[in-house]
Order: sequence, then C-alpha cells, then structure tokens
Amino acid sequence: MSERAPVPPSDRRTFVSKVAAVVIGGLVTVAAPIAGLFPILDPLRRRGETRGMVRVTSFASLPESGEPRKFPVLDTLVDAWNRTENVPVGSVYVQRTGENSVRVLNSVCPHLGCSVGYNAAGHGYFCPCHKSSFTVDGAIADPKSPSPRGMDPLDAVVKDGEVWVKFQNFRKGSPERIAV
Ligand code: FES
Repeated sequence: MSERAPVPPSDRRTFVSKVAAVVIGGLVTVAAPIAGLFPILDPLRRRGETRGMVRVTSFASLPESGEPRKFPVLDTLVDAWNRTENVPVGSVYVQRTGENSVRVLNSVCPHLGCSVGYNAAGHGYFCPCHKSSFTVDGAIADPKSPSPRGMDPLDAVVKDGEVWVKFQNFRKGSPERIAV
C-alpha cells in the first residue's frame, strides 16, 4: 500500500496564486472593454433628454400696463455628444397679467412662420407677411386672417421675480397645435 507524499505548502500557495491570477485576469479582460463603452454609450442614454424651462427676463422688466414685450429665448442644446449653452432658439412675447403672472406667446406666426410684430396703437399683433392679425391674448382678430389658428401660448411661471418659459415650436399651417 502506497501513501501519497504530502504536498509542500509552497506548491499549494503557488497553485492558489495561479488560480487567483487567472480569475482576476479574466475579470479585467471582460470588465475593461465594457467600462470603456460607457463614455461612448452615455450620450445615447441621454438622447431623450427633454429641455426644461429657461429664464427669459425679470418680472420687473414687464410694463405694469400689460403691454407685451418681446424677448429672445436662449437655451442649452444637447445632441449626441455636445452641449452648447445660450443658443438662440426663438423669441417670445411676455405680458404681465397679474401680481405674479404672465402670458407668453411664441412670436412665430402659425401660418407660415414669419415673425409677428406687436402694434401698440392697435393693441394686438400683426403679421406683415400675409396680414394675419391677433388680439393681445393671441386669438385671431380678423376672421380673414390666413393663419389657421391663434398665436401659440407657452407654459410659463414667475419664480423669485424671474420669468421662466417652457419654449416650444409648433407645426405651421395646421389648425391643430402640434409640437415639433
Ligand atoms: S406667415 Fe403670418 S400671415 Fe402668413
């Protein structure tokens, strides 16, 4: 009957070290390329990011008479891998309607997209391109106006004395207000 010779402790340590090296090496081999993909895939995860509200002016800058004022809208644009601050995306008319409330209208004509002007003498808006006219609250003033709908109202809040607007464009030439 033969007896096995005992394995020396140093051989056992060598074996355990080799197994550990193989396991750790395998994990690193798999994990490193996956970790490397995160910076590449991250913008794809952000693709559906929605734009929030943007500050357009202070409430104090609006005439107490309720006459609208036109302001540019600057927003942060995010595409797949770029983020650009303060990009002009449009303009709005802001009108003080109360102690802490405003009405905001997109300044683009819903007919074909010309820029609508405000006529202080006429207390309303007028589009010079095809002569659509709108009341101060944005409704169609003259039934002969070619615009298929009134001016587009936008969500807005007054917070800490600043006017914040959720800017949005809508499909032109459509009676329905369809966000684009
Ligand atoms: S674009 Fe304004 S009336 Fe045609």
